Amino acid sequence: MTSWGHDPLLHSQDSGSTLLHQLFVREMRCLYWTALSLVDQYKQWEEIAEARELKRALAVHNHQTKQHVNRIESVLQHLDLPLAFEESVGMKGLIKEARRTMSETKEKSAQRDAALILCWQRIEHYEIATYGGLVTFAETLQYHLIADILRETLKEEKEMDEQLSAIAARYINTGALQETV
Ligand SMILES: [Fe+2]
Repeated sequence: MTSWGHDPLLHSQDSGSTLLHQLFVREMRCLYWTALSLVDQYKQWEEIAEARELKRALAVHNHQTKQHVNRIESVLQHLDLPLAFEESVGMKGLIKEARRTMSETKEKSAQRDAALILCWQRIEHYEIATYGGLVTFAETLQYHLIADILRETLKEEKEMDEQLSAIAARYINTGALQETV
C-alpha cells in the first residue's frame, strides 16, 4: 500500500518542506498528547458523573477519543513521522482547571454534573478550534486525505458539544438550581 507520505498528490508542491507543514506537525503532536490525556480524564469522569445520560455520553466519547488517537497515529505514520507527542500547555491548563472546579463541588450532586459539563465543553471547544484549524492547514498543504480524516473527528467533537448543551438544558442546570448550600 502506498503511504500518504509518498503520495505524489500529497506532496505536489513539496509541502513537506514548508513552515506550515512544520507548524502542522507540531500541532498534530500536541493533539496526540491531548487525546491520550483525555482518554484517562473521561474514564475518571464517567465514574463520578451522576446523571445516567451524562455517564453514557462520557462512555461514548471515551470510545470516540480512542478512535481519534488511532486517527492521529495514522496521520503521523502516513507522513512518515514517529509517534511522538508534545505536551499541550493550553489543554493541560484546562484539565487542571477542570479538576479544581470539580473538587469544589458537592459529591453526587447536579451541581457537580453541571460543572463537569461546563469543563468538558470548554475542552471540546478547544479541540474544535484546533481540529478546525488543522483541517484548513491540511487542505492548504494539499493533504486532502488527511483533511478528510481530521474532518471526521471535528464532526464528532461538534456533535458531542451539541449533545452536552442539550443534556445541560434538559435537566442538569435546573436540577442544580434546586440544590441548596
Ligand atoms: Fe472531544
